[in-house]
Amino acid sequence: MSIYILGIESSCDDTSAAIIKERKILANLIANKNVHKDFGGVVPELASRAHQQNIIPVINNVLTKAKIHKKQINAVAFTNGPGLLGSLLVGTSFAKSFALALDIPIITVNHMHAHILAHFIEDGSEKEPPPFPFLCLTVSGGHTQIMLVKSHRDMQLIGQTIDDAAGEAFDKAAKIMGLPYPGGPLIDQYAKDGDPEAFSFPHPRVPGLDFSFSGLKTSILYFLRDALKHDPEFIRKNMHDLAASIQHTIVSILMDKVRAAARQTGIRHLAIAGGVSANSGLRNAFEAEKETGNWEIYIPPFEYCTDNAAMIAIAGYFKYVDGDFAPQDTTPFTRYND
Ligand code: KG4
Ligand code: ZN
Repeated sequence: MSIYILGIESSCDDTSAAIIKERKILANLIANKNVHKDFGGVVPELASRAHQQNIIPVINNVLTKAKIHKKQINAVAFTNGPGLLGSLLVGTSFAKSFALALDIPIITVNHMHAHILAHFIEDGSEKEPPPFPFLCLTVSGGHTQIMLVKSHRDMQLIGQTIDDAAGEAFDKAAKIMGLPYPGGPLIDQYAKDGDPEAFSFPHPRVPGLDFSFSGLKTSILYFLRDALKHDPEFIRKNMHDLAASIQHTIVSILMDKVRAAARQTGIRHLAIAGGVSANSGLRNAFEAEKETGNWEIYIPPFEYCTDNAAMIAIAGYFKYVDGDFAPQDTTPFTRYND
């Protein structure tokens, strides 16, 4: 008999639900009311309230879309961290109640591991998932990590940011340039017609495989403050070149450490995951590395880069087959290392 898992993601601002049959995705829906656009970032209280409004309609719609009756579902997998506590509590409480009512198990899923496991979703394409062990650069709005992935369940963090995440660097740079939240995708858009060498920003010096992005934000801030003194229209006139140069800097900082990780571990299967893996500059940098013959690369489809519940469902599936269920008194956690 097939195994059906309902996945629920509510760690940040997206309320998402997905249903998988084993590894095959049947439906994956995301609701985001865009309530944060005018605030320059996610407002936790608004996010919690939006999840509360969205969760029932999203679940109903995903069941309809997957053509599944709720009684067919074998387990409910949900993100229990890291993320915003209020947001996580909505998904957690819903998952517990839903599972209690149906008398089925609940499965907790680490959001960052789920981003990586998105590579194992069967979506009808011919693409092969990465073989173990592989390295994954996981880059999102809240995290930047290099993970040594030994199996679906065994992952070792070998590098991470010591301050801002790469997505945060994109979003903060965009905010300084007057762009709405989330600015990452907009920088990507503007960068397409810009010169990546037009402006240069310093690279941080961080030992080992760790990253730092807070200095970049400060240097962009000071650079633009000075430039605007001379020409108040500077940003508008140079939008494309600024976006391309900022993107180029962030991507080079990421690539330097990924190359170092590949050298140190001798692993040549390299993957990317998380919201920033949708960035065309980063995807192209990975493709270029493949062209040199150094690496086999694994890039997720766009829809599984940014937050989604399909990745939660697949991560839940791997725990389901191991019988790794959570008790009803489980609580969410906010930070990766907690
Ligand atoms: O993984 P994700 O959807 O949510 C978190 O877990 O944080 O990542 C969201 C981040 C945001 O910072 C957003 O600006 C960034 O991913 N992002 C991008 C692109 N698409 C999303 N950054 C640069 N270029 C993109 N195309
Ligand atoms: Zn994420």
